[in-house]
Amino acid sequence: MNGILTLDEFIIQRQTEFDYSTGEFSRILRDIGFAGKVVHREVNKAGLVEILGKTGTTNVQGEEVQKLDEYANNRFIEALRFGGECAGVCSEENETFIAFDDKNSIDSKYVIAMDPLDGSSNIDVNVSVGTIFTIYRRKSGFLGKPCQLEDFLQRGTSQVAAGYIIYGSSTMLVYTAGHGVNGFTLDPSIGEFCLSHPKIRIPKKGVFYSYNHGNYTKFDDSIRNYVDHCFKETVNGTSYGYRYVGSMVADIHRNLLKGGIFMYPKTSDAVNGKLRLVYECNPMAFIVEQAGGRATNGHQRIMEIEPKELHQRTPIFIGSEDMVLEVESFL
Ligand code: AHG
Repeated sequence: MNGILTLDEFIIQRQTEFDYSTGEFSRILRDIGFAGKVVHREVNKAGLVEILGKTGTTNVQGEEVQKLDEYANNRFIEALRFGGECAGVCSEENETFIAFDDKNSIDSKYVIAMDPLDGSSNIDVNVSVGTIFTIYRRKSGFLGKPCQLEDFLQRGTSQVAAGYIIYGSSTMLVYTAGHGVNGFTLDPSIGEFCLSHPKIRIPKKGVFYSYNHGNYTKFDDSIRNYVDHCFKETVNGTSYGYRYVGSMVADIHRNLLKGGIFMYPKTSDAVNGKLRLVYECNPMAFIVEQAGGRATNGHQRIMEIEPKELHQRTPIFIGSEDMVLEVESFL
């Protein structure tokens, strides 16, 4: 096993980088990694068992809930509840946050916000999906009191750590705790996430641009001008390349490694865009910024937007610094 560094070993090595570190934070990451492995197992055999398709219900956003959404949501909440190291969870799938009420959890100083299965409308056709998570230190005080709404409604600049798990051709967990970004690939033969992408840096300028072109006629002129420009633009003689998976995690993961921009601007029928600030945009913004990139709503840094509600949406432009600056110059 020479040369292999597992996620657990890596987290223990890094624990001393955190102020007030007690091991609680490390154990939360371990719990998330464990739930990720369970979801990986189900996603991988999804076509063989009765877990594809819709549950027949809609979530708080009015979106149809897939069976795997529900499965992943339950697995992550269970892992965090039984882990006893976090005070509560807010999830895309639940209308309000869940405050854990056992003794250990109540005394914990952290809360988690997450999208347990992002891009799940892709699952039936075997396209990559992901889990997005972020960890905040509680604002409400943490001795003997359940967590409060204010613990989740913090600016992205207060994130302690954030990450995603991509269930793709391999399953990877990528996270930052504010000291750079590291990626771990799941080795299914030993059931461990192993460090495979240390110190990820996003190229300053890339060639990939990703957005839903079906929304073209619903964009403002400024965005249409920008995408028209992308058709013609080249970098060192190479044309820009349009790529859109329709899973934010997969689109951003590609751009993080290869360079590019992902955007979900406002449209005429969705004036705040589609993606959620607290558990989608903020964690991705933290990761991309930590890798040297940029994430804004076109005018303001994503991580500086003050959240007013758990499921608040925001337009987002995220990726290679020069490409995000370029789109901003069109706005
Ligand atoms: P869902 O989880 O409902 O499949 O939504 C996925 C999100 C995000 O991952 C993706 O970038 C975006 O929605 C795609 O939206 P469009 O289908 O509007 O392009």
